[in-house]
Amino acid sequence: MADKKLILDATAGYRMMWFNKHHPNAIYLDARPECEPDIVGDFRKLNFPDETFKLIIWDPPHIIENAQLGNSNMKRDYGFLRPETWQRDLKRGFEELWRVLKVEGVLLFKWSNQYVSADRILKLFPEKPLIYQISANNPKRGKTGGVIKHVQTLWFCFMKLKKEKPKNPQVQPQLSIFLQEAST
Ligand SMILES: C[S@@+](CC[C@H](N)C(=O)[O-])C[C@H]1O[C@@H](n2cnc3c(N)ncnc32)[C@H](O)[C@@H]1O
Repeated sequence: MADKKLILDATAGYRMMWFNKHHPNAIYLDARPECEPDIVGDFRKLNFPDETFKLIIWDPPHIIENAQLGNSNMKRDYGFLRPETWQRDLKRGFEELWRVLKVEGVLLFKWSNQYVSADRILKLFPEKPLIYQISANNPKRGKTGGVIKHVQTLWFCFMKLKKEKPKNPQVQPQLSIFLQEAST
């Protein structure tokens, strides 16, 4: 693969979020051939070596297939998750994207809390985001017009930082014993 392909959009769909829908530095991947991605693929099992991309964009569907929720237009445009496996699929997706992310690379993850809270999703992932941003906050109204829920679209930024090992592991326990003793 050419070095210039630094960016992976792992759920490109119809590339609605892109200014340049054919960016020369990006690979557009999606499970649905009808979206015409560069690669028809599955974010749970990718055919790239470890540490390939500097930036990964991940905007998986937030609709669960047989939830009574989610209208058919949304499912058509944005796809859906499988009710039996969606938690495992998102966990595997995160782990696989983390694998193909370079050290010091960035993973941008987008989630809408319309049906499943972002808190629940973050618990599936082995890494914590650095920051988040609520990019849209739409009141969802019931039949009588009252607000029944605030639907939020959230962006999370993860960075693959090297885990710092204690410089001198033998010193650390002694230090903590010292601190315990000092405080008693
Ligand atoms: C919310 S849409 C993405 C919209 C896109 N960000 C845009 O700007 O248009 C989610 C996309 O994830 C895709 N998808 C769902 N499961 C996938 C999987 N396992 N691997 C890759 N893509 C998947 C769907 O086909 C759908 O196009």
